[in-house]
Amino acid sequence: MNLPSGQTILSGIQPSGVLHLGNYLGAIKQWVALQDNNTAYYCIVDEHAITVPYDKEKLPEYILDTAATYLAAGLDPTKSTVFVQSHVPAHTELAWLLGTLTPLGELKRMTQFKEKENKQQAESNLGLFAYPVLQAADILLYQADLVPVGEDQTQHIELTRDIAKRFNNKFGESFTIPKAYLPEGTSRIMSLSDPTAKMSKSDLDKSYIALTDEPDAIRQKIKSAVTETEPVISFTKSGPAVQNLLQIYEAFSQLSRPAIEEKLSTGGHQKLKESLADIIIEHLQPLQEKYADLRSDETALKKVLAAGAAKANEVASKTLHLVKEKMGLA
Ligand code: TYM
Repeated sequence: MNLPSGQTILSGIQPSGVLHLGNYLGAIKQWVALQDNNTAYYCIVDEHAITVPYDKEKLPEYILDTAATYLAAGLDPTKSTVFVQSHVPAHTELAWLLGTLTPLGELKRMTQFKEKENKQQAESNLGLFAYPVLQAADILLYQADLVPVGEDQTQHIELTRDIAKRFNNKFGESFTIPKAYLPEGTSRIMSLSDPTAKMSKSDLDKSYIALTDEPDAIRQKIKSAVTETEPVISFTKSGPAVQNLLQIYEAFSQLSRPAIEEKLSTGGHQKLKESLADIIIEHLQPLQEKYADLRSDETALKKVLAAGAAKANEVASKTLHLVKEKMGLA
């Protein structure tokens, strides 16, 4: 695949607990590939994470866990700007300004909002409703061209584009119109226990592989993954559960689809699952070793985040200043 170059990239993940294979294959793997020939900003979006009930003692830990995961997966702070959203006040300030350009009807249509609201009616709050506007601010502050995300975020990126276009029309060209950048084949990794639902950290433990899972846990979870009853192992002819397992296999292997089918087609589901567990374990092991190392030095992690915030603040405050001027607030 031809990687873009010379672009500005921004993306983020919520520090709401352990990261899983969906986050890695849907987002972080692309982030690492994009950092070499582009200007990349990767954020830990803590202000998004507080829109649902959360534990204030754990949040600072999760922020450092996420930072360590970013670096262990291959983000290099000399190439990418890695920072925490709440360390850059321009995010919430721009979100307020953009909120005045966002029709309520558009926010009410957001799938992620509807799903989360259904889950926790009583706890629903303005922050959860306004969440996509904050996400638009995250992206537009850096004038990002590309936003590498999984498929579930495309609706938010569309909203961001609409807000940016509306702003440009009303106040004059100010924002780059960003595009979602989706990975081939892994933009929607499905749950291991339900191939109609995406892999998610809020689901049952056995339905996702955490990036920090031990080899035994990985084998166990893959072994208990649901499959269709027909033994066929094929990217096109298998049902969605087996296709999901094959797609995860493909993402970690250097082989073509026909070569994978040939290799795995004879041993039924058992062989597919054993080979899949092996390849996941093999690829996560170096990441886990680096993670343990990085996570044990909080001072070093905080230093990386402080340097990232300083760089991010410089860029973000310039955009914010421009926006305020255009809106008559300067
Ligand atoms: P979050 O924290 O839920 O997920 C982080 C990234 O992981 C991707 N992802 C998946 N990809 C494939 N298969 C899956 N099962 C899967 N689950 C998660 C997500 O698509 C995402 O790319 N609103 C965002 C965070 C955010 C953001 C931003 C992203 C805030 N500001 C600005 C990009 C730009 C979210 O909740 O992602």
